[in-house]
Amino acid sequence: MSIWRVQGGYPLDGSLTIQGAKNAVLPVLAAAILTGSEVELTNVPRLRDVEASLNILRHLGCAVGRQDDVVRVDSRSMTGCAIGRVLTGQMRSSVIFLGAILARCGQARIAMPGGCELGPRPIDLHLAAVKALGAKVDIEEGEIVCRADGLIGGTIDLALPSVGATENAMIAACGAKGATVITGAAREPEIVELQGFLRALGADITGAGTDTIAVRGFATVRRVGWRVMPDRIAAATMLCACACAGGDVELRGVDPEHVRSVSDVLGRMGADIHTGSRRVRIKCTGRLKSGGKVVTEPYPGFPTDAQPLLMAASLKADGVTVFEENIFSDRYRQGREMVRMGAKIEIAGRRAVVTGVERLTGATLTAEDLRGGASLIIAGLGAGGETAVYDSGHVARGYEGLDRALSTLGAHIEFTE
Ligand code: EPZ
Repeated sequence: MSIWRVQGGYPLDGSLTIQGAKNAVLPVLAAAILTGSEVELTNVPRLRDVEASLNILRHLGCAVGRQDDVVRVDSRSMTGCAIGRVLTGQMRSSVIFLGAILARCGQARIAMPGGCELGPRPIDLHLAAVKALGAKVDIEEGEIVCRADGLIGGTIDLALPSVGATENAMIAACGAKGATVITGAAREPEIVELQGFLRALGADITGAGTDTIAVRGFATVRRVGWRVMPDRIAAATMLCACACAGGDVELRGVDPEHVRSVSDVLGRMGADIHTGSRRVRIKCTGRLKSGGKVVTEPYPGFPTDAQPLLMAASLKADGVTVFEENIFSDRYRQGREMVRMGAKIEIAGRRAVVTGVERLTGATLTAEDLRGGASLIIAGLGAGGETAVYDSGHVARGYEGLDRALSTLGAHIEFTE
């Protein structure tokens, strides 16, 4: 169990370069095994989920090396096509390897991913996607077993714009004979990033960022270099941290378009937002107003991952903020912890109503998921006294040194394993 100790009452000030994106690098690491080529990734963040993915690649027989922010994957030596419970237990989203292993090996065996702190995490859309390409799918003793004597291109209609299922469909389609069309696709920036990487690998793929993606074939290339895009949710975290603590913060490297839905709400709350190419600056002086209604939706709507973060920024805002969480069924756990700081939050199903209070008091809290844990830490920035967040490793899954990042901006925060 680790502890984040935050002394509240210190405004943030300064500039910060945003880390590489967790939700972009994970599918790229899976796709790296597609062609048996050598891949060199830069700007790879140091995260527990990345380490778990590198362990999976080594387990499959790939040669994997890491030096600072550079990761090399050589999948020519890949021999395995199975990922067992121990590895899927380390990272729920290991299902993202399904399409790549199936495309490379013609078969795949992956232990069913556990549920997670956000509610049930079904994978029916992932399985329907590979079935549409001719794969036979069985569940045997808690494992997904896929077999395909060669995938055949076809049409994949996604009933929901699932990010992971869209990524698995794109990657599997690269290993299929003939053309594939994916409809109902997710439109997140991480999908566009994956398309860019697949094109660098030699795939003929277009349409990412819209709801229809076409994959027409693959010409293997040897070596590929790729720089991971900045993490828009890490950026949203810092914007909301400044809203909690007050101050003046500039984020570098981030595409303002990717955080637009979050910065728009913060602007509505009275924060001063300035954007330039690959930078966003936020200034918060005095008490913010409430953001009104905040509804989470697939991109380009308000991202579910930023909902706990904006909730933290709303706790002391003047007025009532109504959250509607439409993506995950159990994503308000942080709210029950924030109440211990003196916050006023009523949670009923998909809705959470936050009534702003004048002050919060530091408390001892428990992180129950990645973004919820981060939201408790940034809420502590705006509370009187010390907030101690007990964390069984959730935050390190998605943030590279959140304590160091906040300290460089003047926060008084201490992290102990
Ligand atoms: C990705 O998860 C992200 N993770 C999540 O970020 C993010 O919250 C989510 O997309 C939504 O944006 C990664 O990219 C590694 P989904 P994913 O499939 O792909 C339902 C974080 O904090 N669904 O888009 O698992 C599902 O239940 C994490 O960084 C099905 O019904 O999310 C959910 O209600 C948390 N069947 C909705 O779709 C399926 O087969 C969206 O899930 C798949 C999903």
